[in-house]
Amino acid sequence: MTDHRITRYAEAEAGLKIPDLHQALYDADPIFLPRTVVCLHGEEHIRKKRTVMSVFTRRFFRHYQNHVYPEGLKETLAPAVADGGGDMVRFAYRVLVNLVSDTAGLDRDRTPEETDRIQALIGKLGHAPTMGQMIGGDRDKLLGEIREALAEFERDFYEPSVARRKALIAKVEAGEADEADLPNDVITAMLRAYPEGTLDHDERVKDAAFFILAGAFTTANVLMNTMHEILGWLDRHPDDRAKLVNDPALLQKFVMEAIRLHPASPISRRRALSDLDLPDGHTLPEGAFLAMDLKEANRDPEVFGPDAAEFNPHRELPDRVPLHGLSFGGGMHSCLGRMLAAGVPAAKDGSQAQSGETEWGTIHMVARELLALGMARDPDRPAEIDESTTRKHFRTFPFVFDPALAVTEAPVEA
Ligand code: HEM
Repeated sequence: MTDHRITRYAEAEAGLKIPDLHQALYDADPIFLPRTVVCLHGEEHIRKKRTVMSVFTRRFFRHYQNHVYPEGLKETLAPAVADGGGDMVRFAYRVLVNLVSDTAGLDRDRTPEETDRIQALIGKLGHAPTMGQMIGGDRDKLLGEIREALAEFERDFYEPSVARRKALIAKVEAGEADEADLPNDVITAMLRAYPEGTLDHDERVKDAAFFILAGAFTTANVLMNTMHEILGWLDRHPDDRAKLVNDPALLQKFVMEAIRLHPASPISRRRALSDLDLPDGHTLPEGAFLAMDLKEANRDPEVFGPDAAEFNPHRELPDRVPLHGLSFGGGMHSCLGRMLAAGVPAAKDGSQAQSGETEWGTIHMVARELLALGMARDPDRPAEIDESTTRKHFRTFPFVFDPALAVTEAPVEA
C-alpha cells in the first residue's frame, strides 16, 4: 500500500498533531533507532523526551552560547582561517559535531582528528534508517558496520564520559559535591532520570549516538544551505553583509528563511494506530501510512505567497506561522533541538535583541562569524550539489576568506 501524501501547509500542521499516528520514518532500521526518542510512542516517549528537554533551559542556552560554543567554533575555524578558506561540507560537519558533542556530554581531547572520528562513526549510523531497502550481502555488511560503529562509539566515547559522570553523581549523592558541580548535558540528565537498572545499557548508548546524529547532521546540512542562500543574496545586495554581521535579528530572519526552504528532514512519515479522519478529508485506515511533505508544505503559496519558492528573508507572515515553517516538525515528535539550532524568535519590535536577552542558536553564531571573516565562494572551484534526493546535499562547497570582504565592527553583545 502506498503512503497517503499531504503537501498543504495547514493540513500537514494539523496532521502532525494527531495523537494516534505512530512514527514510521525509520521502520527499515532494526537495530539503531527503534528505542530512541524519535521512534517511541505514548508514555515512554513523553518520559524520555522530557528528560532530554530538561537540560535545555534558558540558563543552559546562555551558558553554551556565551562560553562553550565560541571555544568550539574557534577551534574548528582555526585550520580554515590559517588556510584562507576550506570546504563548507567538511567545516559544517566538524563544527556541528563538536558543538553537539558538548551538549550530549561526550568528553574529548578536542582535536580535529578526534572530531572527524566521531563524525565518521555517526555518519555510519546515519545509514541505518535506509537499510531496509537493501538486499543480500550489502545489507549484512552494513549491519556489521553499524554494530561496529556502535561498539566503537561506546568503548571510546560513551563509556569514559559516563564513568566520569557517574563518579560525580555519586559524590553529589554522598554530600561531597554540589549539584552545581554536575555537568549540564544530556548524558548526565539521562543517568539521573533513569538510575541503574531502569534502562538498558545498550539503549543508553544508542540514545547518546542518536542525539548527535539528530543534532549535528541536520544542523550541518541547514548551515550549508544557509550560507549558500546568503552568499547568493549578497551577490545581489553586497551592502547587506555588514548589516547581517551587526544586526542579529536581521541575520536570524535570513537563517529562518533558509531553514524554511531547506528542511533537513523533509518528510514526516506515520502509521495510523486506528481509523483516522485526516485534515484533508481522507480516511486513513488503521495500519496505513501517511507521509507529510514538509518541504512542499513550506512552499505552499497560500501561506507563504506567490514567491513561496524563493529566498526572501523579508517576507511578512501571519503571527501564527513561524518563519521556519514546519521544518522542525510539530506535535509530539517536534524537534527538541530547535532552540539550539535556530534560537528564540526575536520579538518583532526588536526589544529582546536590544536588551541582549535573545538566544540566536548555533547556525546564527557560525554564519555570523563566517560572514565577518569575509567568507565568499571559491571562484576557482564551484560548489557541487547532489540533486538526486529530496534533501539538498552538497558534495562539495569550497570557500575562501576574502580580506576585502571582512567586517571588522565590534562584536554584538550576546
Ligand atoms: C536546523 C536543524 C534541525 C532541523 C531542521 C531539525 C528537524 C527535526 C524534525 C523535522 C524533527 C521531527 C521528526 C518527525 O516528526 O518525525 C526533529 C526531531 C528531533 N530533533 Fe531535530 N532538527 C534540527 C536540529 C536538532 C538539534 C540541534 C537537535 C539536538 C541537539 C535535534 C534533536 C532532535 C530530536 C532528539 C528529535 C526527536 C524528537 C521526538 O521524537 O520527540 N534536532 N528534528
